[in-house]
Amino acid sequence: MSMILDEIRTSVQAKSPLVYLYTPEEERALRLLKTVADETGAAIRTWSCVGGLEGGDRAATRDPVEALQTVVRENIAGFVVFKDLPPYFGQPEVVRALRDVYYSNAAEQRMLVILAAELNLPEALKKEVHLIEVPPPDSDEILHQLEEIRDSDAKYNLPDTALQEVTMALKGLTETEIRHVLHRVLQHGNAAKDELIDEIFNEKKNIVKKSGYLEFSPPRWGIEGVGGLDNLKDWLVKRRRMFTPEAVAAGVPIPKGLLIMGVSGCGKSLAVKAISSLWEIPLFRLDMNLVFSGIYGSPEETFHRALRTIESVAPAVLWIDEIENALGIQEDGITISSHIFSSFLTWMQEKPPMVFIAATANHIQALPAEIIRKGRFDQVFFCDLPTADERVEIFRIHLARYNANLDDFDYKMLTVQTEGWNGAEIEQAVISARTEAYHDGRTFNQRDLDISIAKIVPLSETMEQQIKTIRSWAFSRATPASSGGRKRR
Ligand SMILES: Nc1ncnc2c1ncn2[C@@H]1O[C@H](COP(=O)(O)OP(=O)(O)O)[C@@H](O)[C@H]1O
Ligand SMILES: [Mg+2]
Repeated sequence: MSMILDEIRTSVQAKSPLVYLYTPEEERALRLLKTVADETGAAIRTWSCVGGLEGGDRAATRDPVEALQTVVRENIAGFVVFKDLPPYFGQPEVVRALRDVYYSNAAEQRMLVILAAELNLPEALKKEVHLIEVPPPDSDEILHQLEEIRDSDAKYNLPDTALQEVTMALKGLTETEIRHVLHRVLQHGNAAKDELIDEIFNEKKNIVKKSGYLEFSPPRWGIEGVGGLDNLKDWLVKRRRMFTPEAVAAGVPIPKGLLIMGVSGCGKSLAVKAISSLWEIPLFRLDMNLVFSGIYGSPEETFHRALRTIESVAPAVLWIDEIENALGIQEDGITISSHIFSSFLTWMQEKPPMVFIAATANHIQALPAEIIRKGRFDQVFFCDLPTADERVEIFRIHLARYNANLDDFDYKMLTVQTEGWNGAEIEQAVISARTEAYHDGRTFNQRDLDISIAKIVPLSETMEQQIKTIRSWAFSRATPASSGGRKRR
């Protein structure tokens, strides 16, 4: 059936006496163990802090040390599954008793399994314990469960043709979560496939929300709200069908990630936000400030957990904004948390295919070569200041957003007035014109814009030299996000 079963079988063959099964799914893990136990004819018994040791003096063996010693003393063979052990790891007696289990020579083969939802291994056991991390159910398991639930109630209705797509959407959820979401949606009788899939994605969003440091970014921004940047937009549009089951089935290579770097205020973050509505997959922003804050544990551990969580809700886009800060890279290119940086690079190599990384960077000179190197990201784009034509597009987007009459403006004039401006500054000019006019109780016009434009000093004026440096640095390392940018040079 599944990889995880094979992994358990392998550790049985290897005669590992002490196995740590790390999973939030206790019931499922027990079932997996039972499957292997049945194959080998081994017995299986459990221990819990409330129920004591199954098949023994339950009251006396509630004490974990007593229970572990009983296992050794009575030469208990087969699988002995300890459910609630990690909270006791602070007691040296418990750690000692576990070491004794490991080094005792059982007459018959025995595997003591520590079954836990958290990963907490005492230093003194690290070498003895064989760690197995149980992944969430794979496609076969999900499909099996899906069919079982569908057939469990005559009212439930889900055509065979929808099974594959629903299975894919359910990937990453635990068995219990799958059961809940399916019963809830199928209750309604004729749930349409799309409704079901929406509901599944909602469930996933809630799971991510619980994590605290991953923030769901709603699919509110369309690609049409991004002015200019035609190369970048083309790239995204061409890949809009890549995360569908059809594309996966057809073996189309799935894009891994995208790095957008460049001048600030030019729409990098905006473009990333547009991915989710374009591709119709959820987008989560990883808040690296929270990861580094230590609120959720050590940054390394939190980061690792965040990556796991995002894997569990795939297909999804993971957005790391201003990656140079996120990875602890300082202006001079020195990484303050090289641990996180290197584990991120490794993860990018091995990450599940259905997680797409969208990274943005402002201080691009700070990015180490490893991250830009070919193959890490599918594409590295450079966003420059918008050209005159692009500025017109950006003006029109924001004017329309603030309910201006698009015919009331002189675009030629506007482009002359805003030479060297970025998109954020254009937006700012429109907002302040609109605010002034609103104050006077009228719709805004060219004159209002003229006034607000005159008041803004664009970044490119104060940072002329920096922008030149960024440009020349990016020239050989990245693809221009807009075709106009190439012409300008
Ligand atoms: N190309 C653009 N098209 C439309 N709006 C833009 C563009 N560039 C910037 N803006 C406006 O400026 C705001 C800030 O841009 P942002 O994407 O955060 O810049 P960056 O991430 O490149 O620093 C956006 O929310 C948007 O309103
Ligand atoms: Mg940004």
